[in-house]
Amino acid sequence: MTYSQRVEEKTIKENPLIIGIESSCDETAAAVIRGRELLSNVVLSSATEQAKYGGVVPEIASRAHTDAIDEAVNRAVKEAGIRADELDAVAVTYGAGLVGALLVGLSFAKAYAFSLGIPLIGVNHIRGHMAAAYLADKSLEPPFITLLASGGHTAILYTKSYTEFEILGSTRDDAAGEAFDKAARVLSLPYPGGPNVERLATQGKNSIAFPAMFSGNGFDFSYSGLKTAVINYCHTKEQKGEEYSRADVAASFQSAACDVLVSRAVAAAKMKNCKTIAAGGGVIANGYLREKLLNVCKESGISLVLPEKKYCTDNAAMIAAEGLVQYRAGNFAPLSINACAHIPLGKKGKQ
Ligand code: KG4
Ligand code: ZN
Repeated sequence: MTYSQRVEEKTIKENPLIIGIESSCDETAAAVIRGRELLSNVVLSSATEQAKYGGVVPEIASRAHTDAIDEAVNRAVKEAGIRADELDAVAVTYGAGLVGALLVGLSFAKAYAFSLGIPLIGVNHIRGHMAAAYLADKSLEPPFITLLASGGHTAILYTKSYTEFEILGSTRDDAAGEAFDKAARVLSLPYPGGPNVERLATQGKNSIAFPAMFSGNGFDFSYSGLKTAVINYCHTKEQKGEEYSRADVAASFQSAACDVLVSRAVAAAKMKNCKTIAAGGGVIANGYLREKLLNVCKESGISLVLPEKKYCTDNAAMIAAEGLVQYRAGNFAPLSINACAHIPLGKKGKQ
């Protein structure tokens, strides 16, 4: 029997056992879910290795994934307390990300699905970040507003159903995470930028009026003006030989970058008459942003689904969660599926 015939013979289950595999950047991750219940979550990171080079070196990331993938998958299966032959599907990130890194997870997932005779599901990494909320709150059901703030995307979406969403606004230039990473560089902070800016910000005050990032049009964002303002502030001070507080720059930048995310997400919820906001993406791990989101949503009578920090940054539980959405929609991938460096989130408007 061919692989396709074996897959076609499988019955679609209500609460399948799905393994998620993620290798798009510097985290080699595997996780198992049963329906929306998370059974295991393994993340093996090469971030310490990458920090020596000030950022992710694609070649090093690919090699680190090759070393770690077998251990990540085996541990995820073992820690879930299941046998591999009980799995119903393999969900794997096929993009966006570093192609060499993606190919390690993708090739492993293909071989794994083939050997078990179960469906392979190709997951868009960013849709994975959005789906993390389904594990954080098992009762979450569309419609709701999604606030996505990651290294590559910043957007406010109206999630209409599990598979349909409308982009209400997105970044016109840098993404929120990218802005954190660039601010980190200006402040001479090591990789990874976001968490280091957050750490420094705790020692400073929001005392510098950096420009808000309204592009003036609906829910769109612009972060390049903020980045330039931070660079200009530091360089001008340095050129004049004036002292300044790097911690105050970090705190002021962090407020400017995060406050707009909160106000726009809440405004979108009001516009769409939605009582729920679900957040996702690496920047949502930021403590200041989390607190602000919690407070403002509470004041506005909006319920907030905020995945734990470890499910905001890269992980495979979110890939399995989006895998479940695609499994239920019957979206299985052929074994010829290839890696994609860029996958657009979609055009503004209804998808
Ligand atoms: O969501 P993610 O994995 O990126 C994409 O998939 O595109 O998140 C990575 C981004 C990086 O830019 C990183 O600096 C940022 O999330 N990040 C943070 C924090 N932790 C990660 N930004 C601000 N504060 C944090 N604590
Ligand atoms: Zn990510």
